[in-house]
Amino acid sequence: MSDARVLSAQPLEDELQTELSLRPKRLKEYIGQQKVKANLEISIEAARKRKETLDHVLLFGPPGLGKTTLANIIATEMESTLVATSGPALEKPGDLAAILTNLDGASLFIDEIHRLPAPVEEILYSAMEDFQIDFVVGQGPSARTMKVEVPRFTLIGATTRAGLLTSPLRARFGIVHRLDFYDVDSLAIIVRRSADILGIPITGEAADEMARRARGTPRIANRLLRRVRDFAEVKHEGKIDTKIAREALQMLEVDEYGLDEIDRKLLTTIIERFQGGPAGVNALASSIGEDRGTIEDLYEPYLIQIGFLQRTPRGRVASKLAYDHLGYATSGVRTQKPLF
Ligand code: ADE
Repeated sequence: MSDARVLSAQPLEDELQTELSLRPKRLKEYIGQQKVKANLEISIEAARKRKETLDHVLLFGPPGLGKTTLANIIATEMESTLVATSGPALEKPGDLAAILTNLDGASLFIDEIHRLPAPVEEILYSAMEDFQIDFVVGQGPSARTMKVEVPRFTLIGATTRAGLLTSPLRARFGIVHRLDFYDVDSLAIIVRRSADILGIPITGEAADEMARRARGTPRIANRLLRRVRDFAEVKHEGKIDTKIAREALQMLEVDEYGLDEIDRKLLTTIIERFQGGPAGVNALASSIGEDRGTIEDLYEPYLIQIGFLQRTPRGRVASKLAYDHLGYATSGVRTQKPLF
């Protein structure tokens, strides 16, 4: 039953539908991210009072924390619809121009906005700032630019890598929010809310147990809930209590910090092959057979957040907490058998 993907922050193909049914639709139903929520509430109310479109919004942070959900909520709260696309899907300036001229009052969501091709990004600047786009008509010496007005719109950009955004693009967002990993209490509320929507009986303690192992990520919490429900239905009467939750999570090889096989491999590699570090990210990536971007986007942020990994100028270093959790003495000698 072990499945390395159970802790992936990326959505799995078969769960997009359930994910949609679990997404909060309004700001007041949205749990966690208090500061972002409070600030957005004010920006939205102010724009509504002035009967203006909301300033462009940039949301950044690790995957699975609710950037798309928030984009939908912002549009709903502004009483507009949302047209969603992504950086890589907008291949040519014409793709973006076609969307912008047809928005008709909708807000525009661009996921993975750091992956916009440069020529597309360039026409986005004047669209965001002056609500006009510059078209190049013709070729060679007779080429001219033509300005076309587009209706006012709100752009909501999302990225896992704010550092990869060019500064002219970043500067054009009036509202910028970083989403952080959720605390365990917020995740437990999310698990109980989702269980309620899906009709899954669960005790409060079992919800806490899943929340602790969900890597600060609602998408993972909701996935653990569904996987543990399967286990409870097959092996027990269906109700999830702490004992059943622990058994199921053990079978899924999700440890009490929510680390999966790849996290453990990453840390044991630093400890065993690099004497605890510093280990360069490229060397580390090739040692464990993952690509660098995956390590940087999906694995490191959480390991850093829980204090297992430090990012130093010379490379990655495993902390004492990581040694203890994985059963190593500080000398690098294994003192306990692996957890799984
Ligand atoms: N489901 C997933 N994320 C959520 C959140 N932040 N609040 C409520 N339900 C959620």
